[in-house]
This record gives sequence, C-alpha cells and structure tokens, in this order.
Amino acid sequence: MDSGFIEGIPKAELHLHIEGSLEPELMFAFAERNQVALPYSSVEEVRKAYQFTNLQTFLDIYYAGAKVLLVEQDFYDLTWAYLTRMQEQNVKHVEIFFDPQTHTERGVAFQTVVEGIDNALKDARREYGISSYLILCFLRHLSEEDAFKTLEQALPFREKIIGVGLDSSEVGHPPEKFKRVFARASEEGFRRVAHAGEEGPPEYIIDALNLLGVERIDHGVKCEKDSQLVARLAESKMPLTVCPLSNTRLCVFAKMEDHNLKRLLDLGLCVTVNSDDPAYFGGYMNENLKAVQEALDLSKEDLVEVVKNGFRASFLPEVAVQSRLQAVDDYASKTFDG
Ligand code: HPA
Ligand code: ZN
Repeated sequence: MDSGFIEGIPKAELHLHIEGSLEPELMFAFAERNQVALPYSSVEEVRKAYQFTNLQTFLDIYYAGAKVLLVEQDFYDLTWAYLTRMQEQNVKHVEIFFDPQTHTERGVAFQTVVEGIDNALKDARREYGISSYLILCFLRHLSEEDAFKTLEQALPFREKIIGVGLDSSEVGHPPEKFKRVFARASEEGFRRVAHAGEEGPPEYIIDALNLLGVERIDHGVKCEKDSQLVARLAESKMPLTVCPLSNTRLCVFAKMEDHNLKRLLDLGLCVTVNSDDPAYFGGYMNENLKAVQEALDLSKEDLVEVVKNGFRASFLPEVAVQSRLQAVDDYASKTFDG
C-alpha cells in the first residue's frame, strides 16, 4: 500500500503522554537553559539508552528525562513541538495525558505545568486548527492519598482538564487502589480512562470498567486471554487505545507480526492506534499506522475503520465526531481506486 494514504488521512490521537514526546534534542536544549545535569553526553548516547525490556525499564528513563522540565515555557515548547508534528501528520484532534506528580514532586507548581501545556493547545487550535483535550493521569505507583491531593490541585483548573487517567507501573497497582479517587473525580465532572491490560492481567481491565467506571481502556491488549471479556468489549464498543510501537519496544509482543490489533479489530472491538511516548518508542501517529499496516497486512478498509474509531472514541461532542467521520469518508472515497 502506498504510505501516502496513511499520511494524508485525517486522524485523532487519544493516547499520548506529553512527557513522552520529549525528543533528545529538546531534552538537551531544556537541560542547558535550566542548568540541569543529564547523565548523557550526546543525543546519540540518549537514543542508545532507549533499549527497554519491559514497562519499568522504560519508566525509569522516562521519569529521569522529565527532570529537565522546570518552567512554563518548557511545557509550552514541549507541547508546541508535538502539535507541530501532528499538524505535519494530518492529525486533527488530540487528547493528551500529563503526569503532574512527576513535576510537583520536584517542586514545579501544578499551575506551571497546566498553563504551559494549555497555552500551546490554545495556539494550535488557532494556528493549526487542531482540537484538543487534556487528561490528568495519576501515577499508580504512588499512594491513593497522593492522587487525592493531585485531584484537589486540579480543581481550580477544572475547565482546562477534561478527565483523569491512570498510568505508570501497572502490575502490583490494580485499579482498585484508585476506586475512591475516580469516584470523586466523577462527582467533579471529570471523564475517566485508565491504562489497563498493557502488562497486567485481564482482571485489571475488568476492574477498570467495574470499579473505576472508565469510558476507554488505554492499551487493553491483554484482554485476549479472557474470551468473555473480549465479547464484553466488542458488545459495548468499549474503545481500546492501542499503541503498537510502544508494545513492541516494551516487549509486550516480541515483534509487530505478533500484535493482536488485527484479531481484535476483526472481533469487532473499537480499536484505535496511538503513539504513547513517541520520542522513546520510535514513531508518531503515521509511523505507528504504517508499522501495523505492514506487519499485519491491514487493508484500506481496516485503516479507515481504525482511524474512524479514533474520532468515535474521542470526547468530542457528537456533532464534531460526525463531521470528522465525514471528512475521513470523503478522503477515503477520493483515494480509493475507482
Ligand atoms: N504505560 C504506563 N505508564 C506510562 C506509559 C505507558 O505506556 N507511558 C507513560 N507512562
Ligand atoms: Zn500510555
């Protein structure tokens, strides 16, 4: 298939950690201007260090990299760099995760983080026509109490944050640990998502649905071990925000040919494709789409379905979803042979 089809199709990204879009070049620039020491001497050395064997080996390096982010301008520049790439890749809508605890723990104010990101989102709405929402993720390796404190800090910025999520080390930190925080977030009107079934068992996906009341499952690829759960996900059209390059780089699947995205799609699940932490995993939206298309021999119909799922699974109002779906259909009908 010609890769121009993937490049040109209008798409949405729903699983992107803004801290994971920190390219080594930008990491060095921020380290220099903020006078933060890095354990690497060159961009090449940083890239060489990005060899992961599981989620935790990645997280250790990802949290270390985030230490260069200190002032509002850093968060603005980071977000703007990501959005500029998205504009180049024909991404029309993004829902971005951020990890406030990674920053507040180091003495960076919650407000500094949110305003830097939010100002870039506003500018991209105006300059690129990219619509966007921001989702606050709780770090699940930290305590429930810490998550409650973070939720409190978010309340004054209520109109800038559409929802809450759950990320970081999955195994050993089940959804149940955050049941009360998610209930409180829901009372405050936040939408809910959670990472589940990336490395953890299908039970974590079930608990994210039943105990946290999530509207999307981030990753979710481990659902396949439980056929009843797969049937439930298909029946309810519960979206999975799948991140193919992340999954192979973190050894969830040994190689892309082993990925279950196509099987889940064929079983009727609402599968979306996303980049997770593109600066660490070797690709943004288009690279992820190309990688799965090639390895799993996705047809144009499969690609169109996956891309449409991205808009259907978004938190955009229904009228906006419908107009984005129409734009995808218009693009596809223009580019289909005949
Ligand atoms: N999983 C869990 N936590 C994360 C991830 C992920 O893929 N990326 C950034 N934080
Ligand atoms: Zn993620």
